Amino acid sequence: MNDRSGRKIEYLRISVTDRCNLRCIYCMPKEGIDWVPHEDVLSFEELVHLIRLLAPLGIRRLRLTGGEPLVRAGLPGLIARLHDVEGIEEINLTTNGILFGPMARDLKDAGLHGVNFSLDTLKPEVYARITRTDRFAAARAGIEQALALGFARVKINCVPVQGVNDGEVADIAALSKDAPLEVRFIEMMPIGQGKNYTPVTMEQVYQKLVSVWGEATPYDGKLGNGPAAYCAFPGFQGRIGFISAVTHQFCSQCNRIRLTAEGYLKLCLHYSAGIDLRAPLRSGMDDKTLSALMAQTILDKPTRHQFSGNGSAQDLEQHNMNAIGG
Ligand code: GTP
Ligand code: 5AD
Ligand code: SF4
Repeated sequence: MNDRSGRKIEYLRISVTDRCNLRCIYCMPKEGIDWVPHEDVLSFEELVHLIRLLAPLGIRRLRLTGGEPLVRAGLPGLIARLHDVEGIEEINLTTNGILFGPMARDLKDAGLHGVNFSLDTLKPEVYARITRTDRFAAARAGIEQALALGFARVKINCVPVQGVNDGEVADIAALSKDAPLEVRFIEMMPIGQGKNYTPVTMEQVYQKLVSVWGEATPYDGKLGNGPAAYCAFPGFQGRIGFISAVTHQFCSQCNRIRLTAEGYLKLCLHYSAGIDLRAPLRSGMDDKTLSALMAQTILDKPTRHQFSGNGSAQDLEQHNMNAIGG
């Protein structure tokens, strides 16, 4: 369906849990996190029920996120069930990769299309500083396994943080030189913990890559459903993507909505606007009324974000990124 601004909404990001086995500095505090109580998290049954209602409204592609989606038990089973919902064409996953390797085969068999891995550094000691864990080897192994199994699309997400991993962007980009995967750089957004660090702009990353790898050509082919802009560097097997989440507004092309682990249908990454679906679902609201409620909510998706503006603070998202799903 289209929202009031005429944007076609067909992509849903589902955060299946707010929990995570890492503590990335720009995402979560080290401790003292108020996790969503287990009983408040949507069951797989409830999730599938909602997707069955959202598909007829035009949702075609799903992305499972977290927290870390793979810490939730039984994810391959959920993917298989979502895959069976009429109208759902593609299911992708965003993961930190730690648990991915051993589950890769089951995920592929369940119908998982592509995987986006978060990897901000190639140095174990920097990985430890960013994620506050020593799981670097497991994260790398997950990516290797995805390539070995031939997932339709493998991408790497890197969030450069000034003074932490920004010196590595050329080396990280080179992963796309040596393997058929896309490396994407993401501008750190001032959401939750992201406010505490200095982001690096995509223009800065691009200039650094050009100085090392030569001139790039823009790439217009379709490589996903998200806001990344891609280019090709000479001799690279995969493309390099840039997600200018702060400096470039891609809100006018936004095709997405989000569902949090607690069943809140969230209309925009940056705003708290949306509606709780869990209460009506659990109180037994009939499908027709629930579907109409969702359609009405989607219609009112905010037109644009205000990362760099002075918009009224009360409507802005106050949660950390792990509770939103990125
Ligand atoms: P594909 O392009 O389909 O591979 O997916 P994606 O880039 O949408 O998914 P992914 O989970 O890998 O997200 C990458 C980054 O893009 C994360 O930092 C997200 O927070 C960010 N992102 C995704 N959607 C939006 C959006 O609507 N607005 C903004 N500002 N950032 C977004
Ligand atoms: N700004 C930009 N990207 C973020 N991510 C987590 N927090 C932020 C932030 N504040 C990224 C993760 C992951 C993706 C889902 O979102 O690194 O790759
Ligand atoms: Fe976990 Fe992803 Fe947040 Fe890192 S960015 S703490 S991997 S949810």
